[in-house]
Amino acid sequence: MRHNFLMSNETLFRDLDVLDIDHMPEIFRFRDTQLRQIAECIRPAIHGGRPLNMILRGPPGTGKTTSVKRCFTEIEEAIPGIIPVFVNCQTVQTEYRVFRKIYAAVFRQKPPVSGVSVPSLIEALCEELIRRGAVLLICLDDANFLFHDHILERVLRSLLRLHEEYPGVKTGVIATINSPDISILPFLSPSVISVFRPNEVIFPPYGEEEVRAILHDRVRAGLYPDVLPSKVLDAIVQETMRDTDLRVGISLLHAAVRLAESDGRKTVTGADVRTAVLRVGHPHLKQVVRGLREDERRMLCRMAVLHQTGEGEMVSGKLYRALQAEVPMCYTLFFERLEKFRNLGLIEMFRPPYHGNTRQIVLRYDAGTVREACGVG
Ligand SMILES: Nc1ncnc2c1ncn2[C@@H]1O[C@H](COP(=O)(O)OP(=O)(O)OP(=O)(O)O)[C@@H](O)[C@H]1O
Ligand SMILES: [Mg+2]
Repeated sequence: MRHNFLMSNETLFRDLDVLDIDHMPEIFRFRDTQLRQIAECIRPAIHGGRPLNMILRGPPGTGKTTSVKRCFTEIEEAIPGIIPVFVNCQTVQTEYRVFRKIYAAVFRQKPPVSGVSVPSLIEALCEELIRRGAVLLICLDDANFLFHDHILERVLRSLLRLHEEYPGVKTGVIATINSPDISILPFLSPSVISVFRPNEVIFPPYGEEEVRAILHDRVRAGLYPDVLPSKVLDAIVQETMRDTDLRVGISLLHAAVRLAESDGRKTVTGADVRTAVLRVGHPHLKQVVRGLREDERRMLCRMAVLHQTGEGEMVSGKLYRALQAEVPMCYTLFFERLEKFRNLGLIEMFRPPYHGNTRQIVLRYDAGTVREACGVG
């Protein structure tokens, strides 16, 4: 018989929020260098100048968003002359919506629901910025979601050239990119590149000891003492290291403790971690798939099915034909979507030698995992 059954209202979590992947951590370790570099680029704005533009680059779960949010909180609390605007490009994917977001941050109220064009929003914004003598600092978080259809080009062109039409307006842009391999430059025209000129801040993956220290902080803040033996934490660290995404570790902690709790135990075991690994999967993949449009998700899912069944070779022309039955689209749209998937780190594309414009497509995740993330087991 098992001992120490918990009462139904007992919990192993001291603070459940701490084990949420969107939680802003109290202690933010190992990113002082990056925070200092970001601060250096923002500093001119403290004295009324133009902030330097930045690209924060690093694999998923390496602290880019958290770094920006920490800086923005500091600015909001202490520097009234800078207006920080955080734009999550996974959900805000048009120029119009980016400017609505900026408008809402500057005026602290949403713009009228409809009928306001981008130029009118810009005019109102710029007049307000000049009136307040304030500098605008915009973070385009996960900017790779704007690479398609020249959206990033349009957004940057508008943002970085505001001073040409409205002298005195000062803006800086921070773009985060979660792939070390993707360059932003091919998605921008020379005239935008010449004003953007970003400083790169690199976020390398955390090392094993760093992952352990960060997760240990979460354990201390989020769980009651002795709930998670250090050997079990070791197992979670090992799993996290396979992926480099810290969200995997945080999600595993959360899921493993939940398993122990629902089983009425007061300590988490290695078996809980093994079960949690199956449940948690790839949090980054799930998040990216959630940001896709319905038809894009269907195409990705179908590609995973074709890959599994070997029905359609993953070579551009044949893949296009194989997808037609379930996801009809023109070839241009097909190719745009492939490029979007590549920019989001879902696939890789190679040009095999001697095959003209043909591309070989490779899923970056296991096909079953992709189907699962798309909601099809
Ligand atoms: N140095 C750190 N200390 C504590 N927690 C951290 C640290 N770095 C990242 N985290 C946590 O890891 C999770 C992922 O971090 P974050 O969202 O900042 O990553 P990211 O680099 O923006 O990832 P993505 O490219 O996928 O958007 C968050 O829950 C964050 O709190
Ligand atoms: Mg992020």
